[in-house]
Amino acid sequence: MDKPVLVDRTVIVTGAGSGIGRAVAVGATRAGAGVALVGRRESALRATAEDCEAVGGKVLVVVADLAERAAAGRVVAETVDRFGGLYGLVNNAAVATLGGIEDVDDDAVEAMFAVNAIAPIRLLRAALPELRRAEGAVVNIGSASGRNSSPRAIAYGATKAALLHQTRSAAKLLAADRVRVNAVSPGVVVTPIWGGVGLAPDVVEERLDSLRAATPVGRLAEPEEIARWVLALLDSRSGFVTGTILDVDGGLSA
Ligand SMILES: NC(=O)c1ccc[n+]([C@@H]2O[C@H](COP(=O)([O-])OP(=O)(O)OC[C@H]3O[C@@H](n4cnc5c(N)ncnc54)[C@H](OP(=O)(O)O)[C@@H]3O)[C@@H](O)[C@H]2O)c1
Repeated sequence: MDKPVLVDRTVIVTGAGSGIGRAVAVGATRAGAGVALVGRRESALRATAEDCEAVGGKVLVVVADLAERAAAGRVVAETVDRFGGLYGLVNNAAVATLGGIEDVDDDAVEAMFAVNAIAPIRLLRAALPELRRAEGAVVNIGSASGRNSSPRAIAYGATKAALLHQTRSAAKLLAADRVRVNAVSPGVVVTPIWGGVGLAPDVVEERLDSLRAATPVGRLAEPEEIARWVLALLDSRSGFVTGTILDVDGGLSA
């Protein structure tokens, strides 16, 4: 795979303050993009901004709670105001509360749908005029839990299945406009998300051990291993790729 090229492109990365989003943001600036870093924690976004600036990148920090209805429009407006346009949207922000049907309460279910499945629709809608103008690209971050049945993450898996479904529908809808929509579906990645899944730390460790054992390559991924495929899908040289769900999961879904 060639080095991704995003020179003079502007990309929004949600959830850019940690994990996969941070790796995508740093990689995108390294590839030449101006990047809008979106999330709730300003300090985390500022830390990512420093990493981006250290590789010569231009960034904008947008503190926003994507569960709020008005957030998407503001994120896009501030980005276009700063950079003069918009080429790419990476819907990466998510919350995860794991468990079966009796373990996850309504508040957690609604919070997950709001951020993981509804915010990407709002962001796409708000970004669409600019994406059409730029013949841009969207990459949604799914999950093996949305690809496969996930009895131990039933509501989270449902939000990710919704995101993967909208990826394929939007790809068909927007292909004539030359706006591409793809998804990367990670397996298990070492990121802070595992600290907030609503399970005790020892249960998380057990879960990660069993997921490692279930992953054919026998290990968990680092965020950069996911980010490189996100960047490749953003690159306009991937112009014939749309509606694809790319499993980057060590063989978990094979
Ligand atoms: N790690 C894995 O094993 C794994 C596996 C499959 C898929 N994924 C997916 O990969 C993506 C990135 O997750 P990650 O593993 O890198 O975890 P992470 O480090 O926890 O990243 C999630 C990001 O989402 C942001 N976020 C959460 N709620 C938000 C809200 N209401 N508004 C705005 N931003 C919000 C968080 O920032 P703030 O807290 O600052 O808002 C955080 O930076 C997610 O879509 C996740 O579902 C991860």
